[in-house]
Amino acid sequence: MMTGERDQALSALQWLIEQGADEAIEPAPIDRTRAQPAPQKAKPPPPPAPKRPEPPLWEPPPTPLESTEETLGTARHLAAEADSLEALKAALDAFEGCALKQTATNLVFADGNPEAKIMMLGEGPGAEEDRQGLPFVGASGQLLDRMLHHIGLDRSSVYISNILFWRPPGNRTPTAGEIAACLPFVERHIELVAPDYLVLLGGTPAKTLLARSEGILRLRGRWRPYQHPGLARPIPALPTLHPAYLLRQPAQKRLAWRDLLSLQQARLSGTDPLAKPAP
Ligand code: URA
Repeated sequence: MMTGERDQALSALQWLIEQGADEAIEPAPIDRTRAQPAPQKAKPPPPPAPKRPEPPLWEPPPTPLESTEETLGTARHLAAEADSLEALKAALDAFEGCALKQTATNLVFADGNPEAKIMMLGEGPGAEEDRQGLPFVGASGQLLDRMLHHIGLDRSSVYISNILFWRPPGNRTPTAGEIAACLPFVERHIELVAPDYLVLLGGTPAKTLLARSEGILRLRGRWRPYQHPGLARPIPALPTLHPAYLLRQPAQKRLAWRDLLSLQQARLSGTDPLAKPAP
C-alpha cells in the first residue's frame, strides 16, 4: 500500500471510530451503498396439530325449546304446587319460562306485610327495583310511599308486588307472552295472600287481572271484582293511576287522590265496595 493510500485508509478508519463504529462484526466490511440480498429468515416451526377432544362417554340430549303452551303448563304447575309465599318465590327462582329472567339482575318478588288487608300490584320492576330485588323502591316507589302516608298507611300495612317478576330490559313495555308466563304465579300470589282489597297500579295490571281492554283513565276509580277459581270469593279490586304516570303528569294526582280516599273509606268502614247500595 502506498503511503498516500495508507494515510487515506487510516483517516477513514479514524472517521469510523469517531462515528462510534469501534467493533468489527463481520470478517469483511459491508458496502451499505450497494443493494444487499435479503437476509434469510429462519422458518418458524409449523404449529402443532390441534388435539382432537376425547369423545364424551355420555352427553345429555339437547333440551328442546318449550312451546308457549308447555311454558304456560310449567308455570301453572309450579305455581299450583307452591303452598306458601316462600315456596312460590322458590318456584319462580326455578322457572325458566320467562325470557325477562335472562336479562334481569334479580327476581323482584314482594315487599311489605303479607298479612295486610291491602295488596297492591304494579306492572314490573324498574332499574332500582332490579338492583335491590324489591318492588317500588325507585322514584315511583317513593311517591307511592308518600301517597300511602297521606291515608295513614305504610309498608307495614300493605303488601306490594307486580305482575312481572323481572325487569323488562330498558323498561320497555312487556310482551303479552311475558305477562302470560308470569300470570299463573301472580294468581297464586293473590290466592296465598288473600287480601281484602286489591289496588291495581296502572293499565297493565288492571287490564290483565280484570280482563278489560279500556285504558286506565277509563278503568280507574271504580271497584270491580277480581275473580279466580282458587278464590273463595271475588276480591274487590280498585284500578288507579301508576305513580310513574303521576310523576310525569302531576295534575292527575287529584284523580289518584280520589281513588285513595275510596280505598281509605272501604278499609275504615270495612264495607264491601262491590256491594250494591241499598235501594
Ligand atoms: N313500577 C312498577 O310498576 N313496579 C315497580 O316495582 C317499580 C316501578
